Amino acid sequence: MEHKQALPFMEFVAPGVLELHPYEPGMPVEELQRRLGVSDAIKLASNENPLGPSPKVKQALADAALGNLALYPDDGGFRLKAKLAALHGVGTDSITLCNGSNTLLDLVARVFLGAGRAAMYSKYAFAVYPLVTLAQTAEAIVVPALPADSDMPYGDDLEAMARMLRPDLAVIFIASPNNPTGTWVEPAAFERFMVQVPGHTVVVLDEAYHHFQEPALRIDSAGLMRRYPNLMVTRTFSKVHGIAALRVGYGVAHPALTDLLHRVRQPFNNGSLALLAAELALDDTAHVARCVSLNTQERARVGAALQDMGLRVLPSQANFVTVDFGRPSAPIHQALLEQGVIVRPMGSYHLPHFLRVSIGTEAENDRFLASLKRALQA
Ligand SMILES: Cc1ncc(COP(=O)(O)O)c(C=O)c1O
Repeated sequence: MEHKQALPFMEFVAPGVLELHPYEPGMPVEELQRRLGVSDAIKLASNENPLGPSPKVKQALADAALGNLALYPDDGGFRLKAKLAALHGVGTDSITLCNGSNTLLDLVARVFLGAGRAAMYSKYAFAVYPLVTLAQTAEAIVVPALPADSDMPYGDDLEAMARMLRPDLAVIFIASPNNPTGTWVEPAAFERFMVQVPGHTVVVLDEAYHHFQEPALRIDSAGLMRRYPNLMVTRTFSKVHGIAALRVGYGVAHPALTDLLHRVRQPFNNGSLALLAAELALDDTAHVARCVSLNTQERARVGAALQDMGLRVLPSQANFVTVDFGRPSAPIHQALLEQGVIVRPMGSYHLPHFLRVSIGTEAENDRFLASLKRALQA
């Protein structure tokens, strides 16, 4: 903005920050109501969980909210960390808790990146990777993605990444499954890749959508972490566990790497209610299974219905599908908004012909499909 350029403190803004634009989130339901007066909108724009959290989480939060809110939370997150350590077969000194896995990506960047260092990610990678990289004024190595007509269109090209490794490369960010494409990295290809990455380069494997992936397609990240101390995994409670509102994510990494992350982590970075909710969400494996099963079924159904409309759907192992309209998708996005259906335009991801649609409940998906048919006929 012009007026900001003129202010004297702009002189000291980190150069990378000047290249950034604020993250564009999916539109909240209330905002659509304010803008267009639509009162019964559904949001399929941020890959949230349509079933919400386990009922046990809701009950516990209602009880806990009446308790003592004056004390700071447990900074060590003792109980949650113990459960996560057991789940991943590591010690608690390998776990970092954060208020959302985005914050963890930021911690990695703050520890390892800066002027004179580089981070690498694929062209259609998650938007927060460039954000945390440029915020540290590190160089971004943006690797061309797999071709649009390949088996994994717009997906991460690990062979290209391996060819572009450099001595100053401090961090590589890879999401599998990836957002916004839904594509994934084959486990064998990832193992071949890890062999080539030098030990001084930290590989962050972002498993935000892990649960939605068929087990046979999942990378054995636990096994690989035992062999490669420079491999770190991030997970979130915002997706399958349905508590995006509470902001809980975590990292699993070698204790030495975890120690570095703790040095820059803000104290008390998870609220008490968030910690409690995450513990209970983790315990309710039946609820997790229900959410996964709904997603698997509906992802296939929505994908097939979109293909029946003559649209191209990218292969997805996540809780969303990304759809190619073969023409600018902005008017279709607008027509959906006017019918109270919020999906995500992909212009900021260099995919202006695409929309990304989260998988909702059966009723929400039906409403999306019916609204889309109307939008395409108009
Ligand atoms: C690939 C990927 N990583 C991380 C996140 C961030 O999740 P959190 O809510 O834990 O910050 C998202 C959220 O959409 C995501 O798509």
